[in-house]
Amino acid sequence: MFKMTEKRKLAEKEYEIWVEAPRVAEKAKPGQFVILRTTAFGERIPLTIVKTDPLSGRVCLIFQVIGKSTAELAALNPNDRLQDFVGPLGMPSEIKNYGTVLLVGGGVGIAALFPIVKGLKEAGNRVITVLGAKTRELVILKEECRAFSDQLIVMTDDGSDGNQGLVTAAMEDVFLRETVDVAWAIGPSVMMKFAAKMAQNYDVPIYVSLNPIMIDGTGMCGGCRVTVADSVKFACVDGPEFLGTEVNWEEFIQRMKQYSREETDSYEAYIR
Ligand code: NAD
Ligand code: FES
Repeated sequence: MFKMTEKRKLAEKEYEIWVEAPRVAEKAKPGQFVILRTTAFGERIPLTIVKTDPLSGRVCLIFQVIGKSTAELAALNPNDRLQDFVGPLGMPSEIKNYGTVLLVGGGVGIAALFPIVKGLKEAGNRVITVLGAKTRELVILKEECRAFSDQLIVMTDDGSDGNQGLVTAAMEDVFLRETVDVAWAIGPSVMMKFAAKMAQNYDVPIYVSLNPIMIDGTGMCGGCRVTVADSVKFACVDGPEFLGTEVNWEEFIQRMKQYSREETDSYEAYIR
């Protein structure tokens, strides 16, 4: 069992938690994730590792309540224990000195982007970070990202923070202004799809992080399969990062909606 030591509400339906898991804290690299279960009968939830504190053996995760399982996780309190906490899983991000990198995070996807921002800055890159969210309250980890960025651009749908507009508009401004060697985009599927198109227009390679349903997380069940460069890949072991221009977005977006009715029914029954 894995003790939750801290829980903090970041925004409406968004929480940061710290969990005691010394072996995960010691080994985790940017881009990797864990799969957790709150109870023995719970659904497996994959979540990207946001921060670690190897000294205290703790791992930080940020999640949005989107259904029954994430609502159950949000209902836990410090000193409560999680049934399972498996990781670090997946291939780490390729952190090295590329030159100038553009990092784009949308909504709660900013949490998954943050360790890559930090890693690429520490590797000596010039880091330009674009954060996008619906409103100012949902621009999470802004100061943490600023601390590891040479330039931070904020975009909100309603203009309540930074500039009004989508992250892709900010990406285009950067591409028109300067040479970018590589980009990352992490957020909702539709955002990653259009971020990949924008980067392709300017011949910039771009990585995205795919978050399909996962079950075992070790390449055995096939639940997380995605089509990349016309081949079947398993996001849990081959990814979660792939070149955004090679992802079959139509199929991915369709598969992400596959169980939406069951998810809604289950969440509504839980709330009742
Ligand atoms: P959101 O819907 O508020 O979108 C965040 C930002 O993405 C927007 O402000 C906008 O700038 C950009 N965006 C949205 N649609 C766009 C489009 N068509 N073109 C260009 N830019 C666009 O974000 P949210 O509600 O926090 O998102 C939650 C989603 O993020 C969930 O579906 C979750 O599955 C996903 N998510 C993905 C990862 C990952 O690893 N890929 C991690 C965490 C969350
Ligand atoms: Fe089972 Fe990836 S989660 S193969």
